[in-house]
Amino acid sequence: MKELKIPLIKNGTVIDHITAGNAVKVLHILGIPKTSSSIVSVAMNVKSRLGKKDIVKVENREIDPNEINKIALIAPKATINIIREYEVAKKYRVRLPDEIIGIVRCSNPTCVSNANEPVKSRFIVTNKDTPQIKCYFCEREPEDIADRII
Ligand code: CTP
Repeated sequence: MKELKIPLIKNGTVIDHITAGNAVKVLHILGIPKTSSSIVSVAMNVKSRLGKKDIVKVENREIDPNEINKIALIAPKATINIIREYEVAKKYRVRLPDEIIGIVRCSNPTCVSNANEPVKSRFIVTNKDTPQIKCYFCEREPEDIADRII
């Protein structure tokens, strides 16, 4: 019998298997509490099959694909569970695409993507397990991706 750290929710999204310690960054990506007034529960450093993990449960909100892409950058093993009437209606693993466009700001101030040009930031994903990315334009590799998410 599994021990439940946070109560089940009726409707909303459960982001499970977040890299331990990164729940706060997930909240930031979801605009919580700044732009969202959803009820949110968080558990950090919960024991799981593969060590420790964080869990975020957002009630009455189904998160969108753009947010899921951002979450993949900081929690590559996360699963997104869409809950409807207490049932897991959909479950998917986040997946990092080969390229990240318009999501992360380049750390190089002289990069063309930071100039006042209509150029969206663009990164090549060089490692999908422990996310690493490289700027398509200037080849700079940002150290803390989480702090550079737009
Ligand atoms: N969950 C929830 N409210 C529900 C149903 C599920 O908060 N009404 C949560 C569970 O607590 C769990 C996650 O959603 O954290 C996924 O649920 P489930 O698929 O039932 O659990 P597992 O089989 O353990 O998932 P996985 O195989 O992805 O680890």
